[in-house]
Amino acid sequence: MSFTTRTSVLRQAPGRYETVTVELDEPRRNEVTVKMVAAGLCHSDDHAATGDIPVGTYPFAGGHEGAGVISAVGPDTPDFEVGDHVVFSFLPACGRCEFCARGLSNLCDLGATLLVGSRWNDPTSFRMHLDGVPVGQQCGISTFSEYTTASVASVIKIDKSLPLKQAALLSCGVPTGWGAAVNSARVRPGDTVIVAGIGGIGANALQGAVHAGASHIIAVDPVDFKLAKAKEFGATHFYSTIEEATEFARSVTNGQGADATIVTIGVVDGEHVAQALASIRKAGTVVLTGLGDISAAGAPILLGDLTLMQKRLQGSLFGEANPRRDIPNLARMYQVGQLKLDELITREYTLDQVAEAYDDMHAGTNIRGVVVFD
Ligand SMILES: NC(=O)c1ccc[n+]([C@@H]2O[C@H](COP(=O)([O-])OP(=O)(O)OC[C@H]3O[C@@H](n4cnc5c(N)ncnc54)[C@H](O)[C@@H]3O)[C@@H](O)[C@H]2O)c1
Ligand SMILES: [Zn+2]
Ligand SMILES: [Zn+2]
Repeated sequence: MSFTTRTSVLRQAPGRYETVTVELDEPRRNEVTVKMVAAGLCHSDDHAATGDIPVGTYPFAGGHEGAGVISAVGPDTPDFEVGDHVVFSFLPACGRCEFCARGLSNLCDLGATLLVGSRWNDPTSFRMHLDGVPVGQQCGISTFSEYTTASVASVIKIDKSLPLKQAALLSCGVPTGWGAAVNSARVRPGDTVIVAGIGGIGANALQGAVHAGASHIIAVDPVDFKLAKAKEFGATHFYSTIEEATEFARSVTNGQGADATIVTIGVVDGEHVAQALASIRKAGTVVLTGLGDISAAGAPILLGDLTLMQKRLQGSLFGEANPRRDIPNLARMYQVGQLKLDELITREYTLDQVAEAYDDMHAGTNIRGVVVFD
């Protein structure tokens, strides 16, 4: 059984998001349908539009940050009820695969088909169709939709007292940035930290660095508005290039360099990675969170510097956070005033304005745009 709903899709890449009416399946076993309340506009959905991250199915329904209310629960699907408030996790966590069992549920094996957008166990089975043609769901959840049906592996129940608009950012941007500092960079009290790229992810990396006790938190972004916002999230120093930030970091560390540099730039290339590696001290850490052309190989890094200075280059997915533990934890931190979410939302959009919202992202006018549904 299916019903119709409106969703924002890409028909090709490069392409622009457009709203269409699709057929959406009622939930099957271990699935729920969610009436969306809000969806965050992360840069990764723009990578799908530009083709930097090619997806496996067109049309492709976008959106991987979002929160809403359960409107239907599949048969034999325990733990969920109609009316539950939920946040999606952009990464599914099955709890049973080897990586979930290792405590690395951000690397759950179900993630293998995220960019196909089909049901996990069957690449030919789709929950959405447009004029009879299968529609891929971004990360299996496609949150730029009035209603969406998804696997329970992607759904986290949250306290009903939490505002859903703010909670939507817990699907990706907040844990990804916060965890990049706390889990991946392992920031320690007194550290000097550079965060390069102050968007939805970088703003949360700043919050993580504050939380972990860094003394010097250096924000880098070429856009002045971003640096002004960085101050609200706890940055102490502000530069428009990584090189300038490096010079400052050395000046406060006896010439050594930053303890950690976190790269949260919107479109990352190898040059950024090389600049970040040159910015850190002996045995310091570069965390690479940002993405660019995912088929691009190579960064002009000095191999001897990497080895002889014992530097660490750490990729980071979802801030190495664990969706089922960290999404509720971060929600609690917001509720007691330890984490800023309200300040992350710089503009609200309707579902029909997704393409315009990404134009604004390119123009550098938002920290996070959010689609708010009726
Ligand atoms: N690893 C993960 O799990 C994960 C999760 C979500 C997003 N991402 C990626 O993280 C990146 C950031 O996402 P976002 O939503 O915050 O994007 P965003 O567009 O909101 O922010 C990116 C920022 O980078 C700045 N920037 C551009 N060039 C720069 C440079 N040379 N130096 C410093 N800053 C520069 C831009 O001005 C912008 O403020 C994207 O590539 C996104 O795809 C990764
Ligand atoms: Zn994201
Ligand atoms: Zn798993």
